[in-house]
Parts: sequence; C-alpha cells; structure tokens
Amino acid sequence: MVIPALPFFPPATLHSVPDARLFAQRRLPKLVFDYIDGAAGIEGAALRNQQALAAIELCQRALINVDQRSLTTRVFDREWKLPFGIAPMGMCNLSWPGGDNFLAQAAVANEIPIGLSTAASSSIEYMCDRAGKNLWFQLYVGQSIDLGMELVERAKNSGCETLILTIDVPVVAARIRDQKNGFKAPLKIGPKQFLDFALHPEWSLRSLKAGAPTLANFETGDGSKQKFDREEGRGKLTWEFLVELRRQWKGKLVIKGVSHVDDARKAIDAGVDAIYVSNHGGRQLDAAPAAITRLVEIRKALGPAATLFFDSGVRSGDDIVRAMACGADFVFLGRPFLYAMAAAGESGLQQIIDVLSQQVSTVMAQTGVTSVDQLTEDILVHPGVWASDDLARPK
Ligand SMILES: Cc1cc2nc3c(=O)[nH]c(=O)nc-3n(C[C@H](O)[C@H](O)[C@H](O)COP(=O)(O)O)c2cc1C
Repeated sequence: MVIPALPFFPPATLHSVPDARLFAQRRLPKLVFDYIDGAAGIEGAALRNQQALAAIELCQRALINVDQRSLTTRVFDREWKLPFGIAPMGMCNLSWPGGDNFLAQAAVANEIPIGLSTAASSSIEYMCDRAGKNLWFQLYVGQSIDLGMELVERAKNSGCETLILTIDVPVVAARIRDQKNGFKAPLKIGPKQFLDFALHPEWSLRSLKAGAPTLANFETGDGSKQKFDREEGRGKLTWEFLVELRRQWKGKLVIKGVSHVDDARKAIDAGVDAIYVSNHGGRQLDAAPAAITRLVEIRKALGPAATLFFDSGVRSGDDIVRAMACGADFVFLGRPFLYAMAAAGESGLQQIIDVLSQQVSTVMAQTGVTSVDQLTEDILVHPGVWASDDLARPK
C-alpha cells in the first residue's frame, strides 16, 4: 500500500548517505532509528568497517579517454545495471510503511538484486511477485531445521532462483541500543515507546494506517503466536547442513557472513556459487575485524575464479569502487537504503541509488577506467596491504 504524503516534513533532498542518515534520525522514532543504525556491543566492528574502507586510497590517473563509462556488472549469468544491490534486512517496513514495496520497485527499475530476509515484513510470495528474478531469498535457520526447509520450498515455489544462507548469527548478538529502547519484533509498545512514537507523529500516523510491521513469513493466519522467534538461537547449523542444502537447492546458492579463509574454502568445497564476505554490518561479533580486510584475504586465498560478494560499512560510490578493487565481484549495502527511505520515502530510495551510481561513475573516471571489470587492485595505492602482516596498515 502506498501511503499519501502527510504535511509534517517535506521529503528530503539527498546528496550523500551521511545526509540520508541525518534526515532518518530526525524523522524516525528513536527506537526505530537505533534498530537500523545500531550494531553489536559497543559498536566497534561497525566503526572499523567504515574506517577501514575510508583508509583505502585509490590511484588517480590522467589522460585516458574515460568519456563513456559503463556500470553494468555480470553476475550469475545476468547483466545487472549497477555493481551494487540491496542487502537482506529484517523488518524494512519499519523504516517507512510500504518500504518493501519501494525496495522491490527500485530493484526492478534499476536492475539490481534485492535480498529478502527470513525476518522480512513482507512474505516471500508477495515479494517474488513484485521483484521477480531480482529477488534473492535470505535464509535463517533457527531451532527447527524443518521450518527452515519449508521456507526454502516456498522460495522455490515462488520462482526465486537465488538463495542466500546467512551463517554469522549462531546467536543474536546483544545490541545495547535495542536493549535500552525495549526494541522487540513484533513491536511491544509500553509508555516509553508510546512517547517516542508520539514525538514522531508523521511516522506513527503512517505506520498506524499501514498496520504495524510483522514477521510476515511466519504469520499463522489464525492470529496465534508466530512460528519464528527472532531472539532464538540459530546455532544448530553445521557444514553437513550446507551440503544437504546444496543437494536440495538447484538454483544459485550464496553463503553470507563469511569472514574466515578456511570457512570460505569449505563453502567452495560444499559447492556454493558465491561467498558473501560480511560481518553483518558489525551487528554480530563486535570484536570482528573490518570486513574489507577479510575480503582481501579471502580473494587472495581463493584466487580470481571464485565469485565474491561484499557488504559492511559501504557508505559511498567511492567505497563500492574500493571494495571492487579489493576483490569483490558485487557489492551490497544495507542501512543506506533504509536511511534513504526514512528520509524521503520512495523518492529517497531512488535518490540514493542515483547518488551512489554517480559517485561510482565519477571515481571510475578519476581512476582511469571505463568498466567495472577494470576495478582491480591495479587502482589501489597500496595493493594487498590488508593481506600482509609485515606492511603497516594505512592510518
Ligand atoms: C536493520 C537491519 C536488519 C538486518 N537484517 C538482516 C537479516 O535479516 N538477514 C541478514 O542476513 N542480514 C541482515 N542484516 C545485515 C545486512 O544484510 C548487511 O549485512 C549489513 O546491513 C551490511 O552493512 P551496512 O548496513 O553497513 O551496509 C541486517 C542489517 C540491518 C541494518
């Protein structure tokens, strides 16, 4: 459902991801902003993700004809219009009512993939209908393996061709901001949350009209308790499960949340089609190294043939180029899309996609390349710096 504009805040004009984040902070209830923006523990990993990316320097090149540049990227036998996509995120309708619809439309219009979380606020069937082949289903398996396999079956029956198994949430990490705010999914509203919502009437009225977001993949239909508990342990998964999943899932299989070279090798041996290097945007292990440093190591270990995806801390087109130069075949972003929707609804999403695309294109011109397959370590000032113990890390 598309919610008509209400006169509280004019939709923001976005010039950058940090811009979008500031507008989002202003427009969203604190509890919702913190759910999106927050990370595990004292948020060290989230900070390191961005700092490490920012420290990567690119070579500026001159007098190369870069007038015509293409951002088209080939992954999984398909040409995507841009080298980046939408990472799977739970409860996106919290950022803006109808958010999942906007994300699906944006994915189709911009020819980019969209990850749909197990914990999404719209069902697999609904989103496959809207995003078609752009939709990649992200699987969490909790206490019940059978329930996980039911989701896999639903994804297959809905025509989904790419499955992402997330492996970096054996337990749901403590997110201190969420604990302080009393954040729960589905939302529980006490006096503190009520006041927070009352202070953000535009978001609250729209959400009231659209209905509070739920974990739509687990609605029982009879209004009884949902079948998925976001807080429950997901630690039962083993490599044997991955092998069995590979046997049963005939489409493309991606394993997300890989940060160790040995795990990447094991996943390749199990027959996955792509390794998605990520530390969940710093939302799981607070002591994790910056994800970009793991990407360099994993690319070095697996060589050029492996298909590698990357996310965690990407906040600009410059970061997308940096990640590709460090070995990513494709880059995903999470929070930036939710900030943009919160800042300006559907138009915010398109604005941020345009901003990121323009930034990628500009950096390509400045580094002397005309296509994304030329974004190799040749454009890095310090190639391999994260992979080497004896080289000082960039300050
Ligand atoms: C609000 C939110 C919800 C998320 N939910 C999921 C999820 O359900 N499944 C998953 O695999 N990753 C989830 N993630 C992690 C993202 O897929 C992605 O790894 C992360 O956001 C990338 O970092 P970035 O936000 O710095 O771009 C979530 C991230 C956010 C911000």
